[in-house]
Amino acid sequence: MTRKIIIDTDPGQDDAVAILLALASPEDVDVLGITSVAGNVPLALTTKNARIICELAGKPDTKIFAGCDRPLRRDLVTAEYVHGKTGLDGPDWSEPTMPVQDQHGVDFIIDTLRSEAPGTVTLCPLGPLTNIATAFERAPDIVDRVQEIVLMGGAYFEVGNVTPAAEFNIYVDPQAADIVFRSGVPLVVMPLDVTHKALVTKPRNDAFRALPGAVGHAVAEMTDFFERFDKEKYGSEGAPLHDPTVIAYLIRPDLFTGRNINVQIETQSELTMGMTVADWWGVTDHPPNATFIGDLDADGFFDLLTERIARL
Ligand code: RIB
Ligand code: CA
Repeated sequence: MTRKIIIDTDPGQDDAVAILLALASPEDVDVLGITSVAGNVPLALTTKNARIICELAGKPDTKIFAGCDRPLRRDLVTAEYVHGKTGLDGPDWSEPTMPVQDQHGVDFIIDTLRSEAPGTVTLCPLGPLTNIATAFERAPDIVDRVQEIVLMGGAYFEVGNVTPAAEFNIYVDPQAADIVFRSGVPLVVMPLDVTHKALVTKPRNDAFRALPGAVGHAVAEMTDFFERFDKEKYGSEGAPLHDPTVIAYLIRPDLFTGRNINVQIETQSELTMGMTVADWWGVTDHPPNATFIGDLDADGFFDLLTERIARL
């Protein structure tokens, strides 16, 4: 059954691979549009990068909408130290020529949820949740029309990657995350707990590089750049491919395991701002509001990625 999805994203090399996986899988996901948000790099760059990736995929007709350029209340925090100044460092990209739509990303999310049948559109946030929260605040009637939100963000056992307590996507806009996690929309969360098990080891990246055509090679070059930060910081065998887990879940949910638990967002203390307080052990009576994914079949994940990217 093909799912209608909106990808909300701050590309970012790992966002790029998630977008490629989605655009390579039309029998599984129908990408109604891509909305960009400020996160890894400022909005102008995340929007430009989304265009670069859609052109790389050979899908220049994809509808791209620029969204919010800063978090709801906090100053924007970016991550050029991980993704490079352009946010898509690695390959030498030519300037994109495909258009950006005139409509604001938030209005596209609202209009799409109002026009599509209730319960038929899945939102796939891969960056800070600013666009989603703004849409929910501006148009509360759309909340019940969302089929599911499958997002990359948060951490429990892995704790933080941008502060000792918080993962980047949630940390950048904790107020937005709080709105989304309290919304009542069915949530599937891909935290660092699972994405840190999706490491692009050398054999896996060599498999991307060996693919025929330009896309596999570009993925390998993006990963060569993206992995240096995490390998040095964690001493890991490769970069964690965070965001593609969201799209892979839509295609092969059986590759993932998790628990339906209560997850709340810290929005008061600066020390733990943006922490996803996950009741993994069920020590409270707080009602479950999220399927929090803890593990995946990493070989199955990379086999899927490689097979689908080979199509582009
Ligand atoms: O913490 C990892 C997340 O932050 C990923 O989505 C990455 O692209 C960055 O946005
Ligand atoms: Ca991202």
